[in-house]
Amino acid sequence: MRAVRTGTPQCLSRTSEHPWDFTSATTIPRRSGTPGAEEDTAGPAMGRGACPGLVAEPARPSSSRMTLPRPLAAGHRLGPYRLLERLGQGAQGEVWKALRLDRRAEFVALKVLKSALASNPARMAQFRREAERGVRLDGPSLLPVYELSTCDGHHFMAMPYVEGTSLREVIKSRLRDGGRAPRHFLTSLEEPDYLRAMTRILAKAARALGRVHDHRIAHRDIKPANLLLVHDRSEEVYLCDFGLGRDLEVATAEQMRDGAGTPMYMAPERLLRALADEIKCDIYSMGVTLFEAFTLQRPFQVPGHLTSSSLPAFLVRTEPRRPRAVCPGLPPEHEAVILKAMARNPSRRYESAYQLAADLERLDVSREAPAARAIGKRQVASGQSRPVAPKDRCLT
Ligand SMILES: Nc1ncnc2c1ncn2[C@@H]1O[C@H](COP(=O)(O)OP(=O)(O)O)[C@@H](O)[C@H]1O
Ligand SMILES: [Mg+2]
Repeated sequence: MRAVRTGTPQCLSRTSEHPWDFTSATTIPRRSGTPGAEEDTAGPAMGRGACPGLVAEPARPSSSRMTLPRPLAAGHRLGPYRLLERLGQGAQGEVWKALRLDRRAEFVALKVLKSALASNPARMAQFRREAERGVRLDGPSLLPVYELSTCDGHHFMAMPYVEGTSLREVIKSRLRDGGRAPRHFLTSLEEPDYLRAMTRILAKAARALGRVHDHRIAHRDIKPANLLLVHDRSEEVYLCDFGLGRDLEVATAEQMRDGAGTPMYMAPERLLRALADEIKCDIYSMGVTLFEAFTLQRPFQVPGHLTSSSLPAFLVRTEPRRPRAVCPGLPPEHEAVILKAMARNPSRRYESAYQLAADLERLDVSREAPAARAIGKRQVASGQSRPVAPKDRCLT
């Protein structure tokens, strides 16, 4: 696939994460059903005609006598793919870098459903719908799903492999907080160059989100961990992880109020489980992502004693910090874009992700804003205005 770089192996498995950094369908207690159960009833069946490449065995009922497939390891074969290294691990399963052995030898990323979840018809349906959405979402900065398949009891989807790392790891590396992106070019850029490059990259991400919305799909888990940045200087970015995505045309009101997501990035109306405009919610999440990418800090300082279950209520009642209050060097124009994307009142937010992208593209980042010099690594390195991470848990 164009624009996806392949190359030397890397290890992106996550360590030292805080529980509330993870996507969760259960962080906020659901009113009814099991996590992901909504996918069982929502949306069109995955028609053969619509997704000819998608094949997966139907989920089998759970049985205590059923044997789980052997755990995945480097070197294993899954159909035409040889597993090379694990790239990530989440609630739903594992993501592996693999080599396609038939046809042409190419690297791919395989998202493999956790074995324990495969016997749950609701989770299996959720996985199938994630793959179906992936098939529809081809285009710049999006990762099309090639196929959904089953092999040796493992259910997996294949997509292009991105030689890169998540924005989250880049931010952590810039903070010298154990990020796994020491060789990503953004990690070592001087502040004004970092700001310019990040602005262009996030404009592309916002455009890609606009294309997703054009398909009447909401992502519902936009955050730095779900933006993949290509290692080289191409400034390419990919939206990944449509595991919580929703087909807006078919989702019911109850499904829209499921409370699933990563609270730190969820719009207040979603945290409240109000009937929300999911497109506006994605734009809010992109706003929080902009805040974090530009300032290296998060809009909310979460008290250390807070439990995961009380986080949503805290986020709803707390005013976010202003970007320039935590990072005085950020140009006012950047702050204005972040604040508009993150407006608490959805009607004050950008109407579309394209509008957000256009504003990012318009930012006069070419001028040498004196203030920009205070942004990012040097600011952190000099110890100025670093009221965050890791001690106060903003970026741990
Ligand atoms: N296509 C890909 N190419 C390279 N790495 C990927 C790809 N897809 C996912 N990853 C890596 O795996 C991690 C987890 O993938 P993701 O789809 O976000 O699943 P999860 O549900 O576990 O969050 C990502 O943060 C990224 O580091
Ligand atoms: Mg993810």
